[in-house]
Amino acid sequence: GAVELGPYRHYMQKEIFEQPRAIADTLEGISAITPDIFGDQAFATFRKIDSVLILACGTSYYSGMTAKYWIEGIAGVRCDVEIASEYRYRDSVPNPHALVVTISQSGETADTLAALRHAQSHGMLHTLTICNAATSAMVRECALAYITRAGVEVGVASTKAFTTQLAALFLLTLSLAQVKGRLNDEQEAAYLKQMRHLPVAISAVLALEPQIIAWAEAFARKENALFLGRGLHYPIALEGALKLKEISYIHAEAYPAGELKHGPLALVTEEMPVVTVAPNDSMIEKLKSNMQEVRARGGELYVFADGDSRITSGEGLHVIRLPEHYGALSPILHVVPLQLLAYHTALARGTDVDKPRNLAKSVTVE
Ligand code: G6P
Repeated sequence: GAVELGPYRHYMQKEIFEQPRAIADTLEGISAITPDIFGDQAFATFRKIDSVLILACGTSYYSGMTAKYWIEGIAGVRCDVEIASEYRYRDSVPNPHALVVTISQSGETADTLAALRHAQSHGMLHTLTICNAATSAMVRECALAYITRAGVEVGVASTKAFTTQLAALFLLTLSLAQVKGRLNDEQEAAYLKQMRHLPVAISAVLALEPQIIAWAEAFARKENALFLGRGLHYPIALEGALKLKEISYIHAEAYPAGELKHGPLALVTEEMPVVTVAPNDSMIEKLKSNMQEVRARGGELYVFADGDSRITSGEGLHVIRLPEHYGALSPILHVVPLQLLAYHTALARGTDVDKPRNLAKSVTVE
């Protein structure tokens, strides 16, 4: 039957606010890290593999990009991420010892399925999917699976599917780290505790909505926007730009902030809002000097900092502070205000938020 909207104006808004519940459901029953959560054969497979190859499209591709930082940084396993529609038509070098990971909300995206089959036909038989649809083709065709429990996602712009994918990919990272001898009991307990606290932490971020609505009024009058992030939060900047493009039709681009000087700085004027994802991680000082480069050209900064970032509002510099700094899991929190910014900007522009022009929820043909 139809999913009820309840008190919300659009499915997208409802789905943004469902994220605490979606993450809690996705992590339900996980009391310890073990490869078994991905299937009976996962332990044997994880022992054999020497690298990970992630294949996905759209928002799911950005969760894969985020996971690359985790898988290499925490598990010490090499990880490549490819856009499914490019991978399938490229002559790549098959590695039979790679774990092929497809990420898909629907489990039916034609390009991702074709990329999976392409990998299999080249002898890459260690396959795993992170998928929100338990009975999908993707789950049937992969040896191992983790089913996210976002629930039905109606809005074309993906939100809760993305954050639940990230939660599942973090579980995958920890399981790989364990099998590769890179996770001790203390670290496991600390990560699990942080993961269990995510629903509460996301709720605190959702409470920032009134401040974000005020920013959205300014964004609604722009035709271009630049998104910056570094490290783990570069993919989050990409996802923020994608959300804004998809539903508000504002042209938005994302850059890793260190690349500003190699091109996008030429676009920066007083007319250019620059959204910056700025948690207090190891890149924060570098990011602050990138922000100065923007200010020096008159660009207006809209910064999502956290309690520890030490960035204060000033002329041309607006700051919203997320309550908690969240370490490796910070991307799961920082994407939420970007979803809300896109949503409220689209609302202010009067676009069809749940059914943006020219886009489909699930692209099952090439
Ligand atoms: C379409 C949707 C996107 C989605 C992408 C991949 O383009 O509009 O929101 O991210 O497909 O979909 P999947 O179901 O494979 O995650």
